[in-house]
Order: sequence, then structure tokens, then C-alpha cells
Amino acid sequence: MSEQNKDKFRSSAWFGPPDRDGFIHRSWMKNQGLPDHLFDGRPVIGICNTWSELTPCNAHFRELAEHVKRGVYEAGGFPLEFPVMSLGETLLRPTAMLFRNLVSMDVEESIRGNPVDGVVLLVGCDKTTPACVMGAASCDLPTIVLSGGPMLNGKFRGRDIGSGTDVWRFSEEVRCGQMSMCDFQDAESCMSRSHGHCMTMGTASTMACMVEALGIAMPANAAIPAADSRRYTLAHRVGSRIVDMVREDLRMSHILKREAFENAVRAVNAVGGSSNAVIHLLAIAGRVGVDFSLDDWDSLGRDIPCIANLMPSGRYLMEDFYYAGGLPSVLCELGDLINRDAMTVSGKTIGENVADAPCYNSDVIRPLDNPLVANSGIAVLRGNLCPDGAIIKPSAASPQLLRHTGRAVVFENIEDFHAHIDDPDLDIDENCVMVMKNCGPRGYPGMPEVGNMPLPTKVLRKGITDMVRISDARMSGTAYGTVVLHIAPESAVGGALALVETGDLIELDVPARSLDLRVPEEEIARRRASWQPPQPASNRGYLKLYVDHVLQANRGADFDFLVGASGAGVPRESH
Ligand code: FES
Repeated sequence: MSEQNKDKFRSSAWFGPPDRDGFIHRSWMKNQGLPDHLFDGRPVIGICNTWSELTPCNAHFRELAEHVKRGVYEAGGFPLEFPVMSLGETLLRPTAMLFRNLVSMDVEESIRGNPVDGVVLLVGCDKTTPACVMGAASCDLPTIVLSGGPMLNGKFRGRDIGSGTDVWRFSEEVRCGQMSMCDFQDAESCMSRSHGHCMTMGTASTMACMVEALGIAMPANAAIPAADSRRYTLAHRVGSRIVDMVREDLRMSHILKREAFENAVRAVNAVGGSSNAVIHLLAIAGRVGVDFSLDDWDSLGRDIPCIANLMPSGRYLMEDFYYAGGLPSVLCELGDLINRDAMTVSGKTIGENVADAPCYNSDVIRPLDNPLVANSGIAVLRGNLCPDGAIIKPSAASPQLLRHTGRAVVFENIEDFHAHIDDPDLDIDENCVMVMKNCGPRGYPGMPEVGNMPLPTKVLRKGITDMVRISDARMSGTAYGTVVLHIAPESAVGGALALVETGDLIELDVPARSLDLRVPEEEIARRRASWQPPQPASNRGYLKLYVDHVLQANRGADFDFLVGASGAGVPRESH
């Protein structure tokens, strides 16, 4: 080991000492063929990999990691890849969100307990991004987020189709007899035809934009398709840059300041991002102690137009977005609507990063004076149904339903919904408000993406494609409709949602930011007095930990004991 680097970085506590413990730390590592000089005190870069064949969106991450390693070596660092639990949105039951906090713990403890000086987070499928960012933020080492990139555009019979968004559409068409089951099955392989995550502006793409706008990912991170060689070039550059960040001691807390969160809200609104960004950004803010609340989503985003013409709000897909200029172009167009002095992992401010970012297609990335949706944003609702808040994404809703009063049709849970939604005797029409209970953080548990309840077939057959739907659930970022989500407090903890009965009137007024149950106070009090909480989902294991400690949606659904950070001090030795 060279004397000048000795004890300079955190990893030196493991690899530096010439004693018995240092022997143990180095010797066992050398069984991988690692030469002496890698232990000379150079920055050790942990590559936190959410690769899994059960997470198809992240299935190319072994190759991505190899390109990060090339960059790390080139810059004089020492890369060490490690796995963490992966969360695949399509397969994992009962819902990937149930395990976001678990993965954040896996990431946090894997970083803190090991000899790493800087971290690259390889993320893609929806929850892998917030989970890894939350865990890394609680450690606060120099960190770069590298997204795996979206799939290429889906192509089906001469037209582009988008992940998720067109699944929901096709499924409704099958149900009302407009699409054959044979055609539906044909579309499967046409939709997902390359590596990568969903290529709509769903949650994964939104998360990739969010981390880029926060400044913890490199410029252009969000849009480069997974199959494009430039994704691997970016990985190489990330590997080089993280080594420099360690030398500069540019830690997450130097970047994740209030201004960064404001930029993230504005960027997510400008791209018509997923409503899931709300809950994840709140949780990340909680980890770094930034004063940021649900109401900030409304106030900061209220006058931000949606200028990215991407599904589900618009018509294009992420591949088109990349060719049009990607997020740097959007941030450039936002001008002074973003905090241009906010620092980023590039070592430059976000304003410097995007100063001359070009736009190559003004229909995909619209100018501010010709937006896709003016004043889109995420609307935060209050009222006697949601005293701690609820959200709706107006750009994905039907304008004529943003002010609507209707008769409630209540489903006690998702199974009750499936059992009755197509019952010919169900008294429901397009003017009703569909209500689902027990799908919040504690109630499901895990707050699944079931808030965009499919419409009853008898309504679909009339050519109706949207109804007001309300719940304490989330909704897929690829979904659309007049869907009120994240009602807090949730029904399982006795929120007013638990007291709604079929036949009650519910009034939604998005311009006024309100959602109310039009039932006399005395009647609400009577129902509350006889309300019984549901039985807990489990009395042991992770489910019990989750239900006992998960916070409500308006606080990001993090665990109460995970809010905050513990840093990355070197734990004591046990040999
Ligand atoms: Fe993985 Fe959509 S299912 S990003």
C-alpha cells in the first residue's frame, strides 16, 4: 500500500491495516484473483445490483455492471459488485411496494457494513429505484444512480404500443368485445421486445427522470434505451465519475437539498410522471431530513405544464423521448422554473448540465407556450374523506369528471371488487363513484397498484371509458383515468374511507382541491362508533414488521424507524 493513500478512504479501515484483521480482509478477497495493488488505498466502489431474472426489467444489469467496472478501473478505482433483493413489478406478490422498505434496509446495511467508499446503484423496475435511493441516502456516501433504461418502443401491427398503458386498453377492448383473445395474445411479444423497463412514462421512467432531476443521476440517465449502446457508454462514464466523486467527497447530502426536491417535483410534472413519484419522493426526503410535504407537490407543481407528449398522458414513448432530447431538453425548456444552481453528481449545477440541451422534436417535447396539458401537476385533495390528503393526476383524467358528484358503489377489498364488478345485478352506471377500501399501506398490506379499477363491462359496452374511482391504493404509472389515490388516513386505520357505504354521495372537485363524503356528521359519527378494524394480515415475520411500522401515504409509507439517516461510520470489527 502506498503511504500517501493509506487511511484516506473508508475502505482503508478494512484493507489498510497490516495486522491479522487486514490479512483476513485482503486474503479472502484475493480468492477472486484480485492483485495486491487493488488494495493500495484507492477508492472502492460498490456496485449495488438489483439484477434478477425474476425482475425482467433489470435482467441486463450484469452487463451494465461490467461497463461501470470498466469506468471505475479507468479512473483508478476498485469496483466490487454486490446483490440486493430485487423487486419485479410484474411477478412479485402480493405487491412489490410491500418490499420497498425491506430493500432499502438491505441496501443501507450492505453499504454500511462493507468496505465501500462510493456507490453506484443499478436500478430500473419501479420500486428498485426508490428502495435503493432511500437506503443509500441513509448512509450518505458519494452515490450515483444509474437506471437500466427503457425498452424499445412496442410495435404491434404497424403501430407503437406502450408498456402497461396498452395492456389496460387491450384488456378493456377484450372485455367489451372489440379485440379478440387471439390478437390480445399476439400483442404480448410485440410489447416487450428488448431489454429494459416499461417504455411509457410509467413509474420506472418517472423514477429515472426523478433521480436525474434530483441531481443524483448523470444527465441523460432517464431516456437512453436499454438496448442502445449509449446506455453502456453512460455506465462507463458513471464508473469513472463515481471515483472522482469519492475523491471530492461529494456525498448525497450535498446534493439532496430542498432545491433538488423542488426540481424533482417540477420535472415530474413537466413529463407527466407517475403519481407514484409522490410517495417515493416523500420517503426519500424523510431519509435526508429535508422539509418536504405532500402539499409541496401541489404548490410547486401547480403551474408547471406537462410538455412531454408521452404515454399515458400523451402519445409517444421513451425511445422517442430520447431522440427528441430527453430530460435535459425538458429541464432546459423549464428555464428558471427549476433551481439552476442545484448541485449534481456531474460536479456541475443542473443549470450548467442542461444549458444548451437541444430539442429535436417539438411534438415530443413541447415548448412551454404549447404544452400538452397546461397546469397539469399532481393535485393534492383534502376534505372529510381525506383529512391528511389524497392525490389525483389531472393530466391522466377526463376533464369533464374533474368536478363530479356521484353515488358511491363500495368494494370492501380487491377480491370483493373482482367478485362483483361484472355482476349484471350490480347497481352501477357511469355517474357512480367506484370506491375501494383496505388497499392502503397497512390494509392490503403494501398499498398495491389497484386504484385504477377496471370499469364494469356494462358501462364499457356503452362506449364509456372513464369513471371517478377513489381508494387508499396506488395506481400504475402507466395507467390513466379519473382516479383518486393515496387517501390518508387509509380505511384500515379507521380513516373516513372505511365509513363510506354504497349509496352515499361523494363530491370530487379537483379545481377546488376537495374530496368529500356528503353524509351528515351525525351519521358519520354513528358509523365510526361501530367500526371494527380488520384482522392483521400476519402475526409474524416481515408482514408484522411492516404493518406495525409503516407510515401513512402522506408520509411516504416508509417505516417509522427508518426515517432519517445513520451515516456510513465504520462498524466495529468482530474477528
Ligand atoms: Fe418493470 Fe414496468 S414492470 S418497469
